[in-house]
Amino acid sequence: MARAESRYVCQSCGAAVLRWEGQCRTCGEWNTLVETVVRETPKARSTPSVGFGNGSTPIALSHAGDAAAIRTPVGIGEFDRVLGGGLVAGSVVLIGGEPGIGKSTLLLQVAAGIAEGAGVLYATGEESPGQVRLRAERLGLTTGTVGDAVRVVAETGVARIIDLAREARPGLLVVDSIQTVGSDELDGAPGSVGQVREVALRLMELAKGEGIPVVLVGHVTKDGTLAGPKTLEHLVDVVLSIEGDRSGALRLLRAAKNRFGSTEEIGVFEMGEGGLAEVPDPARAFLGEHDGPAPGSVVAPVLEGTRPLMVEVQALVAPTGAPTPRRTASGVDPNRLALLVAVLGRRAGIGLSGHDVYANLAGGLTVAEPGLDLPLALALASSFRDRPLISGTIAIGEVGLLGELRSVTGLERRLREAARLGFTRAVVPRAGGRAPERVEGLEVVTTGSLADAIRASLADGPPVGTRGR
Ligand code: TYD
Ligand code: MG
Repeated sequence: MARAESRYVCQSCGAAVLRWEGQCRTCGEWNTLVETVVRETPKARSTPSVGFGNGSTPIALSHAGDAAAIRTPVGIGEFDRVLGGGLVAGSVVLIGGEPGIGKSTLLLQVAAGIAEGAGVLYATGEESPGQVRLRAERLGLTTGTVGDAVRVVAETGVARIIDLAREARPGLLVVDSIQTVGSDELDGAPGSVGQVREVALRLMELAKGEGIPVVLVGHVTKDGTLAGPKTLEHLVDVVLSIEGDRSGALRLLRAAKNRFGSTEEIGVFEMGEGGLAEVPDPARAFLGEHDGPAPGSVVAPVLEGTRPLMVEVQALVAPTGAPTPRRTASGVDPNRLALLVAVLGRRAGIGLSGHDVYANLAGGLTVAEPGLDLPLALALASSFRDRPLISGTIAIGEVGLLGELRSVTGLERRLREAARLGFTRAVVPRAGGRAPERVEGLEVVTTGSLADAIRASLADGPPVGTRGR
């Protein structure tokens, strides 16, 4: 193949120049120029993301035709749930996560799930086929029809991978990982921004053109974002991420983007001897393990998609030795933590300016919803006063700057689930009048302010520390 022409395109403003320069002359940004292949026949290659129709003929909206998505469930309930029912023919899915979190394991299980029929092509640039086989053996996938239907190739050239896929026409192509695959039409090493983008575009053309679903593995950088250009997320149809505490067993699958379904649903898995197993009762999976109520621990019924999950907020407040006290948040928004510390000081008489504050969620979970404010503030108050919450209590609600409480969506659903799991008391905002008057098995305590909620939540009696525990 003749070497294609390339340009250096600024990833910030889109300006194209012939030679690489450190600074873009158009927008003035530094280090944004990336080598990009210039397509010689742009007409033949229409934009890949709109490759569903038949060329340039307009189609009426009422005409269902082949635009209707053909979904193939992969047979792993929690994975199908996040995808919105299964893999869509011709779609490109990008799955990200820290190294060692379980991306390759999950994809091998997914491959096995839909291998029956057209088979799966698993291209790996990270491991040798032997290593993949070892993992498959561990997962019990080397025997029977699956063992024959999943074919592994160690290949880092995108052109070769595409040729193999065109030839084999598998039901799924897995590329593990996009950072290890490159195109020899470009100078940059595999993993560079230009290469990653080019590889993604080529694989998208394959997916749209042949109707083969493609799953790309992407590494994440330290700050948790997918490496490579941000544009990659715009190109692909679905962006998934696997989260969790690597030292623990629980793993969470989330969709950051999904052209074929909701981004609300999450999948909960547990890493074990036989790979990733679905968690049968996710609602209680993220509760911490300790007996009885402990100061600084508050359970909150958060809503992930349609499913309420009980999560445990933990806080530790301790007198500081440093001139600037520490504020450490993991799994919760550090800005919300800072704000709640301020509100507690001004509106609830709990001044923490001389204390270090640590807050986290049990199980390595990350939750962004505003309803976590009240449980977090209660956990801080509980740790500060060294008193646990009244046994069996859960709390949910948003805290405003005046110390007032605001309600959350789906309150009744959350409370029902909490009651099902054996909680007996719920501290919730009165505002909005949305609190259900009664939920079978649960005492619903409505409160108007943070100070009220603290009074209604903390157990009586002397602080735990003085009870000689
Ligand atoms: P892996 O899928 O290789 O992670 P990634 O592709 O995201 O880098 O998963 C690696 C971890 O999973 C490794 O630490 C071992 C663990 N593991 C199990 O606990 N059980 C299993 O059955 C398998 C296959 C892996
Ligand atoms: Mg891997």
